[in-house]
Amino acid sequence: MMAAKRFFIFFLLSYSVAASVNDRYYPRYHLAPPFGWMNDPNGFSEYNNEYHLFYQYNPNSSLEPGIAHWGHAKSKDLVYWEHLPIAMYPDEWYDRTGVFSGSAIVEDDKMYLFYTGNVNFPGQTPDHQQYQALAISTDGVNVRKLASNPIINGTEFQPDFRDPKVWKHGSTYYMVLGNSFHDEDSNSTLGRALLYTSKDKENWTFASILDESDGSLGYMWECPDFFELDGRFVLLFSPQGIAPSGDKYRNLYQTGYIVGDFDYRTNIFTPKTDFIELDHGHDYYATQTILDRFKRRIVIAWFDMWEQKYPEERDGWTGQMTIPRVLSLTRDNRLIQKPIKEASVARGSSLFSGKARAGTVVTLEDKAGEINIRAPKNKNLEILIESSNETSKVIVTYDYKKGQVTLDRGGKDGIRRTKWRPNGKLKLRAYIDASSIELFFGDGEVTFSSRFFPDGPVKLRLSGKSDVESMKVYGMKRTVSVDHSNGEENGGSK
Ligand code: FRU
Repeated sequence: MMAAKRFFIFFLLSYSVAASVNDRYYPRYHLAPPFGWMNDPNGFSEYNNEYHLFYQYNPNSSLEPGIAHWGHAKSKDLVYWEHLPIAMYPDEWYDRTGVFSGSAIVEDDKMYLFYTGNVNFPGQTPDHQQYQALAISTDGVNVRKLASNPIINGTEFQPDFRDPKVWKHGSTYYMVLGNSFHDEDSNSTLGRALLYTSKDKENWTFASILDESDGSLGYMWECPDFFELDGRFVLLFSPQGIAPSGDKYRNLYQTGYIVGDFDYRTNIFTPKTDFIELDHGHDYYATQTILDRFKRRIVIAWFDMWEQKYPEERDGWTGQMTIPRVLSLTRDNRLIQKPIKEASVARGSSLFSGKARAGTVVTLEDKAGEINIRAPKNKNLEILIESSNETSKVIVTYDYKKGQVTLDRGGKDGIRRTKWRPNGKLKLRAYIDASSIELFFGDGEVTFSSRFFPDGPVKLRLSGKSDVESMKVYGMKRTVSVDHSNGEENGGSK
């Protein structure tokens, strides 16, 4: 094993010297891999007053997920990120075809990393098995897998049995897991979320099925998360296999939530809502949350979608994370997402401030910017984000008669739309970053996260009759650097 690992590190270093990351689409202030492929956020945690984020990582290629490792980065403010060495390699019998997604808890100065070990058996049925494993870090960088792994074999739940999210309540540890099961009645495969409990983090007992698909919620639930928020409980997960329905569920896979009550004595979750999509853009998946030291429930998502062929693949890197967002729950059980207030740390110079007439054009710097708009709620609004290539135009509209907001990034399947009416003024915040746009309508009632690929300078234009009462536009600093040296160069400097 050790020799293999050394060879691998050597291979990595030589690869990284040769690796050339083209940064035309590389985010200026969103976390992306130094090079190679990134998917799900993992192990979101705080250690010694710094945030740590691990992620599904293929250091060998940006063209495919490959065999997952855990990449690693840390940040003091969730804005400036520093790349750290790869935390976990697929080097044990139970994770040899993937150190899959999982989560972290920190106790007694130790990080406990719970994850899924994936093992493929090509040509066999089933062709893979998934085990839950535990690894520990005592310094926030080096990680040691338990000799007694796997900690859960899950024989009765194979083969799709993954993505442990762990938390502690009272003196008990809880783990929610994504799973598929065969439903006899419909003779089909359906998704569900399982709950396990433990007293010592190593020995786990199956406790309950938190919730399951009735046929309308897909065949597999990935990356489940379960937490208390504003007096209720939220089951947040990423189901695969939900059919599109009108403006809903337009992406290949979804991310959304069910709100309900939970009884820690019986381990029974009683839903009080249907499944609700969390974001309305094209690229938002596999969320993970943390309760941070300020008691904020912060969510971060993979700012991509499976099977999309993003142009950045050819640039030596693929995938990024969304801006972390603080969650809260409305009285009628809807999640609100607000960008973390630290996001303002990335603001650069002010590019525009004041009343803005229809036709106003603001050119962003380095293809990145933050836009804040306040407009009357009884007038339509149309904002264009333009660059030199026609295919990378994004049109954002608010239609006050229909009570609807739309993001159109052009091309095939360019439109995403949802119903929304502002309570008071029409408020919109948009973050643009080299190959992405995130929209926050109102106080975060509705968000859209989509990738787009502008070549040349990016301009913002208020079109048609879109006078706005106030508009503020900021440039953005670079807080994440393109790294050609496998973690030896760190994030941007302040
Ligand atoms: C979600 C997911 C997880 C799995 C990981 C593998 O995007 O499919 O269910 O653990 O990605 O990289």
